[in-house]
Amino acid sequence: MKIVKTKESLHQQLQPYRNQRLRIAFVPTMGALHQGHIALVSHAKTLADVVVCSIFVNPTQFNDPADLEKYPRPIEKDIALLEDVRCDVLFQPEVDEMYQPGEQWYMELGGLDGVLEGLHRPGHFQGVTQIVKKLFDAVQPDVACFGQKDFQQYKIIEYMVNQLALPVALKLCPTVRELDGLAMSSRNVRLTPQGRAQALALYRALLQTKADAAHTDLQTLRQNAIDMLEASPGVRLEYFAIYDADTFTEASDAEDTPGLVALVAAWVDGVRLIDNILL
Ligand code: PAJ
Repeated sequence: MKIVKTKESLHQQLQPYRNQRLRIAFVPTMGALHQGHIALVSHAKTLADVVVCSIFVNPTQFNDPADLEKYPRPIEKDIALLEDVRCDVLFQPEVDEMYQPGEQWYMELGGLDGVLEGLHRPGHFQGVTQIVKKLFDAVQPDVACFGQKDFQQYKIIEYMVNQLALPVALKLCPTVRELDGLAMSSRNVRLTPQGRAQALALYRALLQTKADAAHTDLQTLRQNAIDMLEASPGVRLEYFAIYDADTFTEASDAEDTPGLVALVAAWVDGVRLIDNILL
């Protein structure tokens, strides 16, 4: 695997592939890689001839400086995992390679950044779209893979790509879970054994919602999940919502269940966890 740290060297690395008309797939990450990330790289390999992964802990998407500070950065382990899955190129820039000092700009995101995660993490999706736009410009991939784990992030990137008519296809890949159902996340390592067990309540509530969806009205579905989560020890619920997976607006009973997604965010053990399920 080639490791490059500047946009210039990335360009030099990729140009021969482009000259040969080879397809390039891209997997952007913030590192601390787990099997969820690796599944994206594996999937990317099936879609293109060359796979580029990026590791960049993007400061502009952290609304809490302590969270940015605490974000794990096990780069040697990450490189070994990427080598194992035969990733072709790792782009690992420093902050000053991606941002000008004091740089600030704003992207209109159709209000998608004003709900759920956007409401609880002000500015977060502005930071995500800024860096994803810059990474797309640097890599110029034919296709980019994202995880369903961050469903709202995917919808917002999809909106940006459509709005700016960016020449990249997007691929949404299923959430990879631990054996007991907990969605894999770089933040899970911060859970104590007790918190790790308590965190299972999120997936349980989502599974219950999916099981009941066909024969329960949305208000009851939502309320049942909220009651379940609020009764779960150690869980502090931030939101539980049922959205139209296409438009990413709150769902109404008139809609067909298969097009809906249930989304949850909660604090467990001082760690903020999110998860979702397609109904
Ligand atoms: P990060 O949290 O590192 O996630 C990188 C990619 O891995 C995202 O597309 C995310 O949805 C996916 N992912 C994370 N956990 C997953 C799981 N359990 N199963 C499947 N996919 C999973 O998301 C970001 O980084 C950043 O916001 C980024 C897009 C890189 C911009 O900085």
